Amino acid sequence: MKAGGIAADPRCAKPLDRAVIFLGPPGAGKGTQAKELAHKFGVPHLSTGDMLRENISQNTPLGQLAKPIMARGELVPDSLVLKMVAERIEKPDCWHGFVFDGFPRTVAQAQYLGVLLAQHGYKPPLVIHLAIDPALVLRRITGRRTCKADGEIYNIYDRPPKVEGICDADGGQLDQRPDDREEIVAPRLRAYEKQTAPLVAYYKRLGRLHSVDASQSVPDVKRRIDEIVCGAA
Ligand code: AP5
Repeated sequence: MKAGGIAADPRCAKPLDRAVIFLGPPGAGKGTQAKELAHKFGVPHLSTGDMLRENISQNTPLGQLAKPIMARGELVPDSLVLKMVAERIEKPDCWHGFVFDGFPRTVAQAQYLGVLLAQHGYKPPLVIHLAIDPALVLRRITGRRTCKADGEIYNIYDRPPKVEGICDADGGQLDQRPDDREEIVAPRLRAYEKQTAPLVAYYKRLGRLHSVDASQSVPDVKRRIDEIVCGAA
């Protein structure tokens, strides 16, 4: 671990120097919050979903394997995801810490991550659990639209762009993810309950878990996350 990155926000003046993990069901707001937090601390936002989608759009061998699995709303096998993550956190921009979004997602991934972080000399991770009633996420998921160019996340119901289908920031086209169709939401939620929800107990046992009520507004959730992360940095 090298010297830490400096946060721009005065309330978070200390460096991050660790991994922050966002845990929560599809549509809980992991991407929305992880991106902001990473920006605040000047560290990479590592979304395994985005990394896999990038592989799909570039038609890499990993993308070819992941595409049908993601289209069904199932998890990509641990071995593929772990290799991708291990390679990514070797890069120098991760030396000051990073924010995971959607990783780890199984107990095996969490165990491997623990070993990897210790090997690289990081402090134990901070885990933010975005807790939300699954009944609330359907509207968030089916309403989500993402800018093709800069990845900005909108919602046609709750956070619409000024012009339909167009990103406010850069005029890019807004797309709907193939797995955000209503019929794929149920299998994604089932995969979360079966394979990822056990991580709540796993990280609680390790004393790393901070639960946040993710049914609140985006600014309210963000405020709570800032309190947790800035208090621990
Ligand atoms: P991934 O891309 O990680 O998707 P996900 O976990 O299903 O989560 P989402 O991106 O749907 O939701 P989010 O919590 O990020 O919410 P967001 O902030 O966008 O994974 C996709 C697939 O890739 C998986 O199914 C799997 O196949 C594969 N995969 C990825 N990682 C893997 C791994 N580690 N292992 C194996 N397979 C893996 O917000 C959603 C919407 O809600 C937006 O419109 C937003 O504007 C809105 N919103 C956000 N917060 C609020 C709020 N507080 N109030 C109102 N609206 C809000």
